[in-house]
Amino acid sequence: MDNVKKTVFSAVQPTGKITLGNYLGAIRNWTPLQNEYDCLYCVADLHSLTVTQVPAELRKNTLELAALYLACGIDPSKSSLFIQSHVHEHAELAWILDTIAYVGEMNRMTQFKDKSRKHADNINMGLMNYPVLMASDILLYQAHLVPIGKDQTQHLEITRDIAERFNGRYSDTFVVPEALTFRTGASIKSLQDPTAKMSKSDPNENATVTLFDDKDAIRRKLRRAVTDCDTSIRYGEDKPAISNLLTIYSLCSGESVKDAEKRFDGQGYGTFKDAVADSVISVIEPIQTKQRRIIADKSYLEGVLKQGAEQAERIARKTLDKVYRKVGLVGRFR
Ligand code: TRP
Repeated sequence: MDNVKKTVFSAVQPTGKITLGNYLGAIRNWTPLQNEYDCLYCVADLHSLTVTQVPAELRKNTLELAALYLACGIDPSKSSLFIQSHVHEHAELAWILDTIAYVGEMNRMTQFKDKSRKHADNINMGLMNYPVLMASDILLYQAHLVPIGKDQTQHLEITRDIAERFNGRYSDTFVVPEALTFRTGASIKSLQDPTAKMSKSDPNENATVTLFDDKDAIRRKLRRAVTDCDTSIRYGEDKPAISNLLTIYSLCSGESVKDAEKRFDGQGYGTFKDAVADSVISVIEPIQTKQRRIIADKSYLEGVLKQGAEQAERIARKTLDKVYRKVGLVGRFR
């Protein structure tokens, strides 16, 4: 079986605007995986329903995110790109896994506690179930590797626990997946608070650069980025704000942090911030141009998503049939 390619699965919720941090820390690292693995990339629209959504906006964001994946280099001839709700097996397996996961362990999830605090008026069952649906996403495809940001490692741990518990109870069924985290760009920080991660749910607009910002907005946000006490441009623990900007510059320009330190030695923060803005624009602008073209070509986008859902469903169906059989459900008569 050694020559069989391993499977990679990952997903992003179509909620909020994808940030530069999401891109550099996650999506950008997904494209090279396509050559080595069987990859499935998913728009997790069902997960988004766990917080209040405006239906028309959710629909728009879902298609825009799918187009963004393509613009970032996800190649539908190599990978399956699909919308989670198009493959109904996700919700069905989640039900079975609900009978495996314990209330106590879901109640202890950091993200559940955070979101419960943030959305105190809407602590719905789906919010608590969120990690089980995520486990279902991953286990349906027997994924070996799951590229994720650091904030999702706890959810991957619980996915592994659920898989092992099921396998222990009903015999080997699921591949127990491993997280794939990337060092580079894994932790781009807020432009307004370099101790916090750049988050798409940050209410302060100036804290994030998003993949939807135009040139002027990018430049303005970088000019307003907070800096550290002294005026030197160097990387270091005592310089969290400038270190963050140097990391962004390095990831966007391809120049090493060391070389960048030399280049900007003795220059003012103003010049430096403009150079960071230029490097960010040079990365984001071509993606936006491509994304706009893809959104305009509705039949192409729909074709990609139709094919992706069909490919995904073939695998999902097999896993779900196996699971239904193992837990003792009577198969449908045909
Ligand atoms: N919860 C993930 C996030 O917010 C998105 C997600 C949903 C996901 N299902 C997944 C990520 C399965 C990896 C695998 O980033």
